[in-house]
Amino acid sequence: MDPMDHAPRTDAVGESAATLAAAAARFSAAFTDCPDRRGTGAEKWDRWGEADVLPLWVADMDFRSPEVVLEAIRSRVDHGVFGYTNDPPGFAPALADHLQARHGWRPDPAGIVGTPGVVTGLALTARLLAAPDDEILTFTPVYPPFLTLPGAAGRRCIRVPLAQSAAAWSIDWDALAAATTPRSKIFWLCHPHNPTGTVFGREELLRLADWAEKHGVTVVSDEIWCDLVLDDHLPHIPFASLDHPAARRAITLVAPSKTWNLAGLGCAAAILPTAALRQRWRPAGGGLVPMVNPLGYAAAEAAWRHGDVWRRQLIGLLRHHRQLVLECVSQIPGLVCVPPSATYLMWIDCRGTGAADPQAACEAAGLGPSDGRDFGWPGFIRLNTACPTERLAEAMRRLRQAFTEGLSGAP
Ligand SMILES: Cc1ncc(COP(=O)(O)O)c(C=O)c1O
Repeated sequence: MDPMDHAPRTDAVGESAATLAAAAARFSAAFTDCPDRRGTGAEKWDRWGEADVLPLWVADMDFRSPEVVLEAIRSRVDHGVFGYTNDPPGFAPALADHLQARHGWRPDPAGIVGTPGVVTGLALTARLLAAPDDEILTFTPVYPPFLTLPGAAGRRCIRVPLAQSAAAWSIDWDALAAATTPRSKIFWLCHPHNPTGTVFGREELLRLADWAEKHGVTVVSDEIWCDLVLDDHLPHIPFASLDHPAARRAITLVAPSKTWNLAGLGCAAAILPTAALRQRWRPAGGGLVPMVNPLGYAAAEAAWRHGDVWRRQLIGLLRHHRQLVLECVSQIPGLVCVPPSATYLMWIDCRGTGAADPQAACEAAGLGPSDGRDFGWPGFIRLNTACPTERLAEAMRRLRQAFTEGLSGAP
């Protein structure tokens, strides 16, 4: 039995750092004894097959979900009937209560609609809020589907590059203004931001809201990473919680999948501002979007209601892993990484190493990151630190090897 089972199941925000540190030490087995995922169809582990490449790419974790979530799934399995399932009555209130407890924002549960994925939700918004050839703007670099989904829906993706400094990635307001046209209809905000780990602050969000209001753009805020903010001084502010007319028109997409490692269960939620949008949401899928599966609902509800102790322990570990990667990166000439404030992703600038193809250099050294090119940003790699510490340490050894010995990707 997982020790999490004995942990208090209520949110204990305000618990002292010492208590949390003690808990993290007690429960660390949850993040060291990981099942072997090879041969299970795990996308992450299948990619390089039998080759000796440590997969630190796609954004799922190698950890088991917390026992409170597994228990909820088991109990739903014991029910034994898995027919077509609407949002169960506890689903929306569990999310609304969770958002209230964690982020001080309680959306109206009536506006919450279960959706089999955040990516699905983004694709639906393209069809609901923009006409063919209209423009969907987004900050780049960005999670690859933001770049490809508009085209798949017959809409146009407009890339607005973020500005990089030594300490932060920030919004380039001139670039946003220059990219705006009468066909700008949607802004897809990734907040917190994948891959840079940026947590946008109130001032930036309000300025974005002003821009959206001025140009009649609807903000769709993908907040799938909102529960993995690593820096206490940077609270996640849901875009739709702002006191602003653009926020009252915004759509928010969330899911328990990143935080509690549930991506394979396909359960997310859209938070929709009007009854009219709620009515049009499912039909916009045109028969291509399945219902959410009942095990996904059970897991989501349990994670939101009872998953916070585990989540906070995970954050302790991810902070440690962030430090480990930053230290390693700082010792490799030519590598640069702006410390992420959220996520378990490290976005690493490899342009100073002389490697023509950083992804190839890593793979040749037995390390499998995500390729920056897929995020619209060549010369970078993204590393996923959500694996046991020992594996991450070995990955750092291979990162060093990739860029200090051989430089196999060099011209
Ligand atoms: C920003 C962002 N949105 C959406 C997703 C995927 O969401 P889903 O699996 O619910 O489609 C990811 C996965 O990494 C992500 O990083």
